[in-house]
Amino acid sequence: PELKSPLANHESEQKIQQLLSAMTIEQKVAQLIQPDIRWMTVEDMRQYGFGSYLNGGGAYPKDNKKSTAADWVALAQAYYDAGVDSSKDGSSIPPIWGTDAVHGHNNVFGATVFPHNIGLGAANNTELVEAIGKATAVEVAATGINWIFAPTVAVARDDRWGRSYESYSEDPTIVKELGAALVKGIQGNVGSDFMHNGRLIATAKHYLGDGGTENGKDQGNNLNTEADLVRLHAQGYISSLNAGVQTVMATFNSWHGEKIHGSHYLLTTVLKERMGFDGLVVGDWNGHGQIPGCTNNNCAAAVNAGVDILMAPEDWKLLYQNTLAQAKAGEISAARLDDAVSRILRVKIRAGLFERGNPAQSELAGKSELIGHADHQAIAAQAVRESLVMLKNNNQLLPLAPQQKVLVTGDGADNIGKQSGGWTLTWQGTGNTNADFPNGRSIYSGIQQQVEAAQGYVELSVDGSYQQKPDVAIVVIGENPYAEFDGDIRTLDYQAGKNTDLELLKKLKADGIPVVTVFLTGRPLWVNPELNQSDAFVAAWLPGTAGQAVADVLFKTQAGEIQYDFKGKLPFSWPKNADQSPLNQGDSNYDPLFTLGYGLTYQDNTTI
Ligand code: GLC
Repeated sequence: PELKSPLANHESEQKIQQLLSAMTIEQKVAQLIQPDIRWMTVEDMRQYGFGSYLNGGGAYPKDNKKSTAADWVALAQAYYDAGVDSSKDGSSIPPIWGTDAVHGHNNVFGATVFPHNIGLGAANNTELVEAIGKATAVEVAATGINWIFAPTVAVARDDRWGRSYESYSEDPTIVKELGAALVKGIQGNVGSDFMHNGRLIATAKHYLGDGGTENGKDQGNNLNTEADLVRLHAQGYISSLNAGVQTVMATFNSWHGEKIHGSHYLLTTVLKERMGFDGLVVGDWNGHGQIPGCTNNNCAAAVNAGVDILMAPEDWKLLYQNTLAQAKAGEISAARLDDAVSRILRVKIRAGLFERGNPAQSELAGKSELIGHADHQAIAAQAVRESLVMLKNNNQLLPLAPQQKVLVTGDGADNIGKQSGGWTLTWQGTGNTNADFPNGRSIYSGIQQQVEAAQGYVELSVDGSYQQKPDVAIVVIGENPYAEFDGDIRTLDYQAGKNTDLELLKKLKADGIPVVTVFLTGRPLWVNPELNQSDAFVAAWLPGTAGQAVADVLFKTQAGEIQYDFKGKLPFSWPKNADQSPLNQGDSNYDPLFTLGYGLTYQDNTTI
């Protein structure tokens, strides 16, 4: 489709030409290299003047997980000053900092962690997602950072993929709407608050077809026809570009065997020329190094294909030297180098770097009260409530009266790290304790509050044990956190081979206790045994720090009124067998246990 940027203007283009004409080739090449803060010192920044840098998942100032907003801002200020200082013999090009704030500012201690995209797909509420984008950008701006590597607009088509939870849905229409909503929330609206006063730079990722690889293998090979690539996987880019997204991240995967970091056709001909994208393309983590003939520190091919910034966390020094040599030798043409730098400058101009200046001194920078702000937590609670999908409710067990004896059990009951999933404080989301989430609330904490307020009795255990026999048990179980390829699986069978959770459910059923299972998961899984041992079963996805909001839906008031009914509908088809993958609506042999869009409410009187 022909798309022309709604943002192009002559004033910016003239400024770009002015800046270019004053830049040395060393400065131009430095704009193309993006180190990670763990491997680049402030003095390195002063020496080289890189155009941008990132903190990968689990990277914090001074490697301190509990860094404050002031710590983040101080580091952003130091890199900014060093970057500007490096330009002593040419025009001063300030650097920008990119971060994976993919479900809130999830690397930051105390931040609001929203439900992962799969839960937002179940809620399917564009206004809510836009509010999440805006709240996330405010918390990111408070730390002096101005570039967010989100939204992921992947359309996950095989749930064995370790990044399924980063996808809103198997349905490109849902992805198209919600991806654009997040872009608007992060960047603001053209002509009003676009990319300033708490609005930042967004990234549509990972272009193109990351959710469509064979067997759901992360970074694998996508064999879609071009028509299906457009129909299924490009919709989120069309809508994000129309929403004014300024950056696109290239994907690790291949398309018909060609690594997309090296695909001139997809990156330049399709995205930049045919779709008219005039922002910048950033490569993924050493993704350039996967191109045949390239290494992490030597890859003209990626630049020539259309990658404008090479994400080179560790090997940036040699990569800079090699890329400079290639630019001087003409292996990277002067025109291509200027095109890449122009795109980077265009985004920086639009983000106000040359007029409003340093993100570390923005209106919001340093305002620690914005981190985990109550208003953001209220949005997170709404998102949790609307994301829950009720798959089973025999004998209308739910909603529960609070004035009774309730056992809350399972290893997810009081575990904010488990309920938040990957990309939370650490890359894999592992190693976190409840104390790492000062503004977080576990699922148990919400249940406890509501039952005790009604003079009910509530107990917590991990293994199904109890002191007083309960009237009902709420069992919170599910996947442990993971990210990317570490989450790839070969079978959809939950806890394949070692099903300790099923034993827990069976024990409670044997004791004659009604069971509500709350399932924490990054994707649909084959859980027929667990479903059969449950009287009610709720898919809670990965709700994040507002776990207390689950109780708002599970419990009615003491007077017996429903507080919040279920709204969530399945954004992914749910399998009938453990080997049913890929499983998507529209398949010729489509035969799920629960279809895309399924979800019970309290009005349904369904027994399964
Ligand atoms: C990772 C992910 C990408 C992320 C980048 C920076 O490998 O693929 O989503 O933005 O590296 O952390």
